[in-house]
Amino acid sequence: MKHLLSTADLNIDEIISLLDLADEMSLVNQRENRKLPTLRNKTIVNLFFEDSTRTRISFEIAAKRLSADLINFSAKGSSVSKGESLKDTVQTLAASGVDAFVVRHSASGAAYNLAHKGWIDTPIINAGDGTHEHPTQALLDAMTIRERIFGIGNTKGRDLSGVKVAIVGDIAHSRVARSNFYLLSTLGAEVHLVAPPTLMPGGLGNNKHFDLDQALSDVVPDVVMMLRVQLERMSAAFFPSESEYQRIWGLTAERFRSLDSKTSIMHPGPMNRGLEISAEAADSNQSLILRQVANGINVRMAVLFSLISGEGAVNE
Ligand code: CP
Repeated sequence: MKHLLSTADLNIDEIISLLDLADEMSLVNQRENRKLPTLRNKTIVNLFFEDSTRTRISFEIAAKRLSADLINFSAKGSSVSKGESLKDTVQTLAASGVDAFVVRHSASGAAYNLAHKGWIDTPIINAGDGTHEHPTQALLDAMTIRERIFGIGNTKGRDLSGVKVAIVGDIAHSRVARSNFYLLSTLGAEVHLVAPPTLMPGGLGNNKHFDLDQALSDVVPDVVMMLRVQLERMSAAFFPSESEYQRIWGLTAERFRSLDSKTSIMHPGPMNRGLEISAEAADSNQSLILRQVANGINVRMAVLFSLISGEGAVNE
């Protein structure tokens, strides 16, 4: 494989190979010497046209742990502000000798265009494109769920058959939900989408619910994945008020306490505490949120290794 653009492109063998490799990277990250020489003399550019904390930093740490040189490009402060196009920007950077681009952009399809327009011949990793996909987020979420179901150290080769995951909230604007739906479904998980009708997109299967309390009691999910309400992507009123959203769709302290004690809580971050998720849920011992962050480094090391070394599991 040359690029990682969408989880819909990955088959189950490719996903499990990547997750197994990420588990091996997790062992490397527990050693005193956490560096591998694998990508020495390789150059990776973090090409971010949208803000990020977790994804940008974890790609940077992952690249450095693999001994690659990592350059952070941010649209703010670059010649993009003088009107330079995406095409001219990447061609300029590629001419400097780049082995992979990690791309985040507000336009759905931006990573696909960079990979397939013929502007450059460099591997592209989609780090989030508009409301379309965020494949490495879904991989790190699957890694975290696999650890939770089978136990750390007991995950090799395992899929997620029969695992029930409820993804709750602003699904319409969520690239995380889309990537997770494809990836978790390919792994055999039962994925349920729970949202107000105004925030439920078409497609994405038939397990759709429009009442959160009913869905939680009917499904009894192993994992509840809360999504950020993406106010910055909303051009209309999708719900009456934030307090109304929190009451009906939020994982409030009361709703959290009503869950089975084995139900795990996930959130891709950044969180709107007090809106889609309460502090009680986010900070509880059922929360996997910080484990998701740690696994971001493991998964991104696996993806960079696979794409750039050419020894990996990901397909074209
Ligand atoms: N989950 C996620 O993509 O977070 P960032 O926007 O901070 O990268």
